[in-house]
Amino acid sequence: MAPYKKTQFKDAAFRRYLYVVFVTGLGVFLLLFLLKSNSTSDVVTTSQSHDAVDDVVFSKGEKLNLPKQNELSISLAQRNQLPARNLDLYPNLPKDHITIVLYVHNRPQYLKVVIQSLSQVVGIGETLLVVSHDGYFEEMNSIIDGIKFCQVKQIFFPYSPHLFPNSFPGVSPGDCKEKDDPTKMHCTGNPDQYGNHRSPKIVSLKHHWWWMMNTVWDGLKETRQHQGHILFIEEDHFIFPNAYRNLQILVELKPLKCPHCYAANLAPSNVKSRGENWDMLAAERMGNIGYTFNRTVWRNIHKKANQFCLFDEYNWDITMWATVYPSFGSPVYSLRGPRSSAVHFGKCGLHQGQDERGACIDNRVVDIEVGEIDKVPNIKQEWSVHVYKHQAGYQAGFKGWGGWGDKRDHQLCLAFASMYLLGDSPSSSKSD
Ligand SMILES: *[C@@H]1O[C@H](CO)[C@@H](O)[C@H](O)[C@H]1NC(C)=O
Repeated sequence: MAPYKKTQFKDAAFRRYLYVVFVTGLGVFLLLFLLKSNSTSDVVTTSQSHDAVDDVVFSKGEKLNLPKQNELSISLAQRNQLPARNLDLYPNLPKDHITIVLYVHNRPQYLKVVIQSLSQVVGIGETLLVVSHDGYFEEMNSIIDGIKFCQVKQIFFPYSPHLFPNSFPGVSPGDCKEKDDPTKMHCTGNPDQYGNHRSPKIVSLKHHWWWMMNTVWDGLKETRQHQGHILFIEEDHFIFPNAYRNLQILVELKPLKCPHCYAANLAPSNVKSRGENWDMLAAERMGNIGYTFNRTVWRNIHKKANQFCLFDEYNWDITMWATVYPSFGSPVYSLRGPRSSAVHFGKCGLHQGQDERGACIDNRVVDIEVGEIDKVPNIKQEWSVHVYKHQAGYQAGFKGWGGWGDKRDHQLCLAFASMYLLGDSPSSSKSD
């Protein structure tokens, strides 16, 4: 072929290429426009008014298809819009306060202990406490009603399986149970990798955790603009008086002492350990007691909605360790002090591997010793950081304990990730 011909051919090819690109672009634009106006979308592209742009791409037609709500769940969603309480006592919060989110189910005897411990935390009046409830329980509410030591905002998970006695996310008539064969039994459901069908009690924790994360970072009026860190605790975590001040120090030291740390923790990742008690900070794998991170980290987590929602594992924390964190591309370390500022005291597990998940009554007195050293900040600026590398525990490659095989749970979970970003959220607190 003569050289000039080749050029001509190339030119033509290039023009054809441009044409194809243009037409495709136009097509995609129109498609997006149509999808958007239908508010059902294959591709959800959103940008927050603040911070990083977050592009969440849901692969196959995951549209926002939230379950039909009932009277109770609608009234709770409305209650979520109520202003925080104790605004008269604590009208202004310092700009750099660390919001505290406490997520609870139904263990009032535990909740009393947590709230009592929080009341003794130095600096607690400087922050907002958000209490997120999985289910509706009067006894839990009355404990929260008694709080006078800081601003409190109560929110209720309106899609809690506990609120739906005879429809999804609870059990619907016709749902498969245990190891039913859907084709033989003509029942609804997809078994998990071990052949078991969904159980609302088991899936509720992971759903609640994910709904709560999306709600506090992207939905709730009181917190969705929060630029600092948020601390997450559970109803069976005892918090020491120095927890808040220690956390402020850790958050300040994090960029200086451990730039590769994603979070700060109030306790070691090994829940049985109370710390080394040495004169050093520790960087180790993310723990699940008193973990604290900022919006940048949340955006990273949120981008992994598919990993979180589609992995066949009913524990939120194991899901994070086995799929979400490994997908970040570098080890996810958390910074902490050498002495716990929070401990897990619950005997009745709500998660963790294959624990029994039936009702658990635990009426023993919780006596956690609080020493003088736990009442004052006990982290020193000048300490170096000990990095724990290659720690044992759940990690990439773990297949999951199951319990999360039903497509309806996957879809609901993905819907939580997009409900505030699509601006179509019946249960959100988006109103201003
Ligand atoms: C949030 O924390 C991460 C991890 O520690 C850090 O890289 C990032 O700069 C922080 N973002 C802001 C806005 O401070």
